[in-house]
Amino acid sequence: MTDPRINPSILAADFVNMQSELARIASADFVHVDVMDNHFVPNLTFGPQMVGRIQETSPIPLDVHLMIDDPDRWAPEYAELGAASVTFHLEAAADAVSLARRLRAIGARAGVAVKPGTSVEGLFDLLPEFDQILVMTVEPGFGGQSFMPETMPKLRALAEQVRRRGAQVWLQVDGGIGASTIAQAAEAGADTFVAGSAVFGADDPERAIAGLRATASHPH
Ligand code: DX5
Ligand code: ZN
Repeated sequence: MTDPRINPSILAADFVNMQSELARIASADFVHVDVMDNHFVPNLTFGPQMVGRIQETSPIPLDVHLMIDDPDRWAPEYAELGAASVTFHLEAAADAVSLARRLRAIGARAGVAVKPGTSVEGLFDLLPEFDQILVMTVEPGFGGQSFMPETMPKLRALAEQVRRRGAQVWLQVDGGIGASTIAQAAEAGADTFVAGSAVFGADDPERAIAGLRATASHPH
């Protein structure tokens, strides 16, 4: 497989010391930024102003995960801020394809996310429209939850379609990813791994990233 990407989630970081927190994950591929609006999910984090400042100060590109209602209206702003990747939820989007096209036109990678209960069959014919598909491995809203193995069949089905169609889309997992679960997700076909508590909760985040990367590279 291609080299796995490890994207630490700053939901598990100290929000008021963001610059020093970012310095602890210098070997990460992307910084995963969880935007929550207290409507799509029952939790609230931050919006474009904070993400804009993180974008200006982070040495690592941003992987923005929007857990918000009406992404058709709000997501392009995050691409305009310079985020490398902007992922919105399929359940919340009115027109996922035209939104993805707008994100790409601004210059961001376009991602679409699905909650554990949302099926992915409808995405099979749309793979060329997206740069990333995020299969949530917990119910979105909070860090520190347990990985849901029952989401793996969706990942396998997507990975099979990506292979069969020669699509260029990355397959991301988010939620409960750590030393004991990342192999399952890698084996099922994920290539991009979000980890919050497993990285920022570790004494040595860089070692945690290296360990996750090594396991994801050789999951068997
Ligand atoms: C959950 C967020 C995740 C969260 C993952 O809704 O989308 O990105 O930070 O945290 P862990 O890795 O602790 O499950
Ligand atoms: Zn996330």
